[in-house]
Parts: sequence; structure tokens; C-alpha cells
Amino acid sequence: MAFVVTDNCIQCKYTDCVDVCPVDCFYEGPNFLVIHPDECIDCALCEPECPAKAIYSEDELPNEMQHFMELNEVLAEHWPNISGRKDPLPDAEKWDGVADKLDKLEGMPDI
Ligand code: SF4
Ligand code: F3S
Repeated sequence: MAFVVTDNCIQCKYTDCVDVCPVDCFYEGPNFLVIHPDECIDCALCEPECPAKAIYSEDELPNEMQHFMELNEVLAEHWPNISGRKDPLPDAEKWDGVADKLDKLEGMPDI
């Protein structure tokens, strides 16, 4: 099992989650982060750290967000690792809570 980053991270990318992960299993795109499901040790430390409440445990992932499981898995293989916190995206506050931001996702690999 693993934890999964979902829709509300898009355009926010606060990165508080990255700071607490003991195994550095976050991977970074231009406006979203993902968790590598094979590297996550299920410690649950990141979930309460996300100001956007974008992180869920796989077994608590709401039905309408199931597609984020595969998205995390695929993007983690294509994006570079991130191991330290950085500034959120400039409009993070504005985008926090906006629904269905998947069409804003940048950095999708050609697959
Ligand atoms: Fe990292 Fe733990 Fe979060 Fe998995 S649950 S991504 S190991 S902090
Ligand atoms: Fe994204 Fe939340 Fe981490 S907004 S970068 S999952 S702290």
C-alpha cells in the first residue's frame, strides 16, 4: 500500500509533505508532486502536513480520485526526485480548494 497525491496539489505544490518523508519518495513535475508507490513505506507522516489536504492513503482514496493512483505511479517514473521543501507556486492560495484541476496538469510525458 502507499499514499497518493491528488487533485488539490495541482497549481499549489506546497511541498510541506516532502520535508517529512523519511524515504524521499516524492517526484516533482512543474505544478504537481507524486508519490512513488513502490518506495512509500506507508508511514503516514506526510498526510497531515499538506495544507491543501491533497494526500490520501490508498485505502481511503475517495472513489472520484481513484485515477490518481495510476497517475502517481506513472509520473513517479518520469519526473525527478525532490527531497527538500521549496516555496509553493505563486498562486497556491488562489488555487487551493478549486475543484478538478487535472486539465491544468503540466509535464505529462508522452505515453
Ligand atoms: Fe513518504 Fe511516509 Fe508519505 Fe509515504 S506515507 S510518501 S513514506 S511520508
Ligand atoms: Fe502538494 Fe500538499 Fe505536498 S499541496 S506538494 S501534496 S504539501
